[in-house]
Amino acid sequence: MKKCWLILLLFSCQKKAVPVITDRQADLPEKIASIYPPKATVPVDTLMGNRLFTTRCGRCHGLPEPKQFSKEKWETILPLMFPRSRFNNEEALHVRAYVLANAVK
Ligand code: HEC
Repeated sequence: MKKCWLILLLFSCQKKAVPVITDRQADLPEKIASIYPPKATVPVDTLMGNRLFTTRCGRCHGLPEPKQFSKEKWETILPLMFPRSRFNNEEALHVRAYVLANAVK
């Protein structure tokens, strides 16, 4: 009986498995089109963009560098990453300006 408890304990302490997504939805172009490009509601602040980028874009993967991609490529990546970073319109506006200003020409 004692052995049983030990085995139970072992299993309960194991790390939870990563959920398997079986029905991943295709990207929602309509939804994205309504949030991207962000609307210019406030003056653009690339320094703020830099800060937001540095603190929020390296949470799931290594922090990318703006110069890794061209403007065109960023314009396809950012709309997918902004919702993941939970940026609101103003934050997205600053980050986009910062990234595009430093993208490879
Ligand atoms: C919630 C997690 C998460 C956050 C936050 C996030 N990303 Fe990502 N990112 C991913 C995943 C997952 C991928 C892999 C590709 C995919 O599934 O779209 C990825 C891929 C990328 C890529 C590679 C794309 C390619 O085509 O090679 C770049 C560049 C990138 N992210 C930049 C960013 C930037 C910039 C931000 C901040 C605005 C950001 N990410 C925030 C999860 C995240």
